[in-house]
Amino acid sequence: MRLTIRDIQKMKAAGEPIPMLTAYDATSAYLGEAAGAPMLLVGDSLGMVIQGHDSTLPVRLEHIIYHTQIVTRVTQRAMIVADMPFMTYHASLEQATISAGRLIQEGGANAVKLEGGEFVAPAIRQIVQAGIPVMAHIGLTPQSVYQLGGFRVQGREVASARQLLRDADAVQEAGAFAVVLELVAAPLAQMITERLDIPTIGIGSGPHCAGQVQVFHDLLGLFPTFGPRHARRYTDAGAAIQSALTQYVEDVKARRFPTMEQATGMKDDILAAIRADGADDHADD
Ligand code: KIV
Repeated sequence: MRLTIRDIQKMKAAGEPIPMLTAYDATSAYLGEAAGAPMLLVGDSLGMVIQGHDSTLPVRLEHIIYHTQIVTRVTQRAMIVADMPFMTYHASLEQATISAGRLIQEGGANAVKLEGGEFVAPAIRQIVQAGIPVMAHIGLTPQSVYQLGGFRVQGREVASARQLLRDADAVQEAGAFAVVLELVAAPLAQMITERLDIPTIGIGSGPHCAGQVQVFHDLLGLFPTFGPRHARRYTDAGAAIQSALTQYVEDVKARRFPTMEQATGMKDDILAAIRADGADDHADD
C-alpha cells in the first residue's frame, strides 16, 4: 500500500522531517524508494537533467505522463507526485483539472504539483475538488524564470516577503496538502513553516522546513561540473561513472575487454563437428 497525504500529514504532526527527491526513470525511482523517501517527485526538472534543455519550459504534459508511468511501475510504497508543466494549468480551470486528471489517470501519479501562489489558488481549489491531492510550489518558480529575471533567492525585500506570506496562506486555504518553498530566504521559510498547518517542503530554503526536496542528479553529483549551492553532493557519481566509461572504451580499444571470462565456450566435440561441416562444405567447392 502506498503512502498517502494522511501519512505525510502525520509526519508533519509528529515533527518527523519529510525527505523527498526527484525520480524520472526506473533507476532513480528504484533507488529513491529503496533509500526510504516517502515521496518521489516526477519533476519538470527532467527538462534540464534528462532532456538537456536550459529551463523547464519545453516540458510537455505527455513527457511527465511517460516518466510518471515508469516511476509508478517500479515503486510500491512511495507517494508519487507528478509536476504539472508550464502552460498546462494557466489557460483555464478546466484545462488545469483535465491536465491534473491525466497525470493521475494515465501517469498513475498519486498527487500533482503546480507552481504559483495566490494566482493559481483557484486552480488548486478546482483540482482538489476533483479529488486530486495538490502540492503547491512558491518562492522561486522555475516556470516563471523569465518573469523573475533568473534563478535567485526570493522574499528578501519587504514587498516580496509579504507576497510570499500571502501566497502561502492562499495555497493552504485552497486545499493544497503541502507546499514546496524553493529558494526562499531561510528566516522567511521558517516563518511560513510555523504559520501553516500543511508541511513546507524546502529546497534551498534552509533547515526549518517540515521536509526537504532535492534533485536526484544534484545529490549524486551526476553533472561533475555543475551543482547548485543549495544541494549537498553526497557522492561524486558523475566523476566515478565518467572514469569507468573511459576505462571501458580504452579496454575495448586495447582488446583487454572482453576476455573469455565474459564469454561462453562450446564443447570440444560440438566444435569439432561444426569444423568438420565447414571442411565438407569446402570439399564440395
Ligand atoms: O521539478 C522539480 O524537480 C522541482 C523541485 C526542484 C522542487 O520542482
